[in-house]
Amino acid sequence: MSSPRSESNKEQSAAVAAFYSSIGQALADDANYPAAIRQHLDEEKAILSRHLAAGKYSVVVEVGCMDGRLHMAQVLRFPLRYVGIDLVAESVRKLNLCLSERRVPASRAVGLAMDACQLAKLDCLRDESSALVIFPFNSFGNMAEPSKVIAAAARLTVELLIFTYRTDEASNELRASYYRDSGMTNLECITNRSEVRFSSSNGLVSHAYTPRWFETEFARFGYRCAMDEFGRLGLVVHAVLARKIDD
Ligand SMILES: C[S@@+](CC[C@H](N)C(=O)[O-])C[C@H]1O[C@@H](n2cnc3c(N)ncnc32)[C@H](O)[C@@H]1O
Repeated sequence: MSSPRSESNKEQSAAVAAFYSSIGQALADDANYPAAIRQHLDEEKAILSRHLAAGKYSVVVEVGCMDGRLHMAQVLRFPLRYVGIDLVAESVRKLNLCLSERRVPASRAVGLAMDACQLAKLDCLRDESSALVIFPFNSFGNMAEPSKVIAAAARLTVELLIFTYRTDEASNELRASYYRDSGMTNLECITNRSEVRFSSSNGLVSHAYTPRWFETEFARFGYRCAMDEFGRLGLVVHAVLARKIDD
């Protein structure tokens, strides 16, 4: 029997999926992106390329991959396996259609409709110490229960690369203009010691956590975080299990 807590996670994830399969699609439409967001995504690609070029990894899992538009093509330029996961089944169906049109075999790349909390169930990540799990374009900040996602990753031996936003005023302004241009209504921005949380009356909930939050929350699960700012509002967090660093 599932616990009330897992039921509430399912409900929250269902709400996120309902948002991103409808109104939230506008957040993935580059016609709505202010210049700073375009630059942010270009820099995300460049940072990811540098990580992949080091040749350490054999599989990349992209969490919140949508229809593969963010990083799939770039990952496949490297001799790596790609697995894209997203809550929205329709986005994943489009990703798989694109792969079959390009005749990419499922053994090389595949999309799966699933919740990031279930990461530990991915066969490609079991016994995989050369896997990188990436969270593009603040998908991490959309997770209903981020700690569950970190706990699932920590049960494996995977490294995480999280692309998110900084939490200063100037970054918040740029986020607000991106959300407004994407049709998010009655935007609310709440700041506390751990995060900046944007929400809208038509369903957006997007968190950006502070460096201190990343450090302490990930440490609870045995991860150490290296962080770098990029572009006008970006923060990239590379989380590696301390036991791997110390090996
Ligand atoms: C790439 S993020 C975009 C966030 C937006 N750019 C922002 O600033 O907040 C959105 C994607 O993450 C996916 N997503 C959210 N929570 C998820 C979860 N728990 N597991 C898998 N995918 C998730 C959504 O379905 C959506 O397709």
